[in-house]
Amino acid sequence: YMVDKGNHRHFMEKEIYEQPEVISHALGQYIDFIENKVNPMTAAIDFAKVPSLAISACGTAYLAGLVGKYWFERYARLPVEIDVASEFRYREIPLSPQSAALFISQSGETADTLASLRYCKEHGLKIGAVVNVKESTIARESDAVFPIMAGPEIGVASTKAFTCQLSVLATLAIGAGRARGTVSEAEEKALVRSLAEMPRIMAKVLNNIQPTMESLSRELSKCKDVLYLGRGTSYPLAMEGALKLKEISYIHAEGYPAGELKHGPIALIDENMPVIVIAPHDRFFEKTVSNMQEVAARGGRIIFITDEKGAAASKLETMSTIILPNVDEIIAPMIFSLPIQLLAYHTAVFMGTDVDQPRNLAKSVTVE
Ligand code: G6P
Repeated sequence: YMVDKGNHRHFMEKEIYEQPEVISHALGQYIDFIENKVNPMTAAIDFAKVPSLAISACGTAYLAGLVGKYWFERYARLPVEIDVASEFRYREIPLSPQSAALFISQSGETADTLASLRYCKEHGLKIGAVVNVKESTIARESDAVFPIMAGPEIGVASTKAFTCQLSVLATLAIGAGRARGTVSEAEEKALVRSLAEMPRIMAKVLNNIQPTMESLSRELSKCKDVLYLGRGTSYPLAMEGALKLKEISYIHAEGYPAGELKHGPIALIDENMPVIVIAPHDRFFEKTVSNMQEVAARGGRIIFITDEKGAAASKLETMSTIILPNVDEIIAPMIFSLPIQLLAYHTAVFMGTDVDQPRNLAKSVTVE
């Protein structure tokens, strides 16, 4: 299978810019854009009947699953048990055989994720696979396969697979909500319309923010530590931002739920550690802004990633404010992924690391 970089310097850059196209393709498989409905779901898993859902994955796929947990709980009122696969498989979690389990994996070959799948299978759960490689072991051993259709991802640091995983999980959560009667027809239409707009908004954002992210990366490349904060679905995004940065630029970074700031990381705040705050103007915005105030009051430098409403509502002085368009809550995680991907990418380029093949990391981890 031949894949080339086209006009891009690295596969990672190409894969970042491919997102509007691959997501639109992926959504086409899950959504009926004429009726504004999620397509009927697989018969293999009856989301209307399951008492709970288990999710297990590694790395970036795990963080997509964590966003998925918020969605399944909110839209489908389905309790979700989630853990990284290397813990999930050994925890001896009491699982009901009436439940279903989802395994998220780009490669479909990650050893710990596969072991978690087999554990759930032994306990009688119905198995769903959210994978990029449809012929993979994880796909083959599942009752239902939900392909993310991102196309081959070459960069070791996952980008387009992450946003495609999120897009597919969003449609599954909406579909589950419809099946369970927790999402009305009108809500479904509104959610699907937002998803349909997403590729166009992504393309616009990618065009607009590149110069800002590139100049900001010069500042980041001088730092030894970076803290990312977020609440709600922005919390897994904060962890994903930190993961991307450390993977390819080797700068130490941590992602934290904004509300936990005062229980530890606040001790680290000084002028040398930038704090990247991911805060769309959602239900949690005011709370996150008050955490930002705590950072500012201690001389911390803030990189504020928000939307137009958020920028207008916050009066705080920041090192930089990245303003994205106002979007519906369901697509915010995908849109807000773009600046954190570009920031990590440009910082790594600036530092001269091997962006597509970072040291010590592998694209697919088939050992435990
Ligand atoms: C490795 C890769 C990550 C990936 C993780 C899980 O650590 O470097 O990019 O998120 O494995 O891989 P999977 O193929 O299961 O999604």
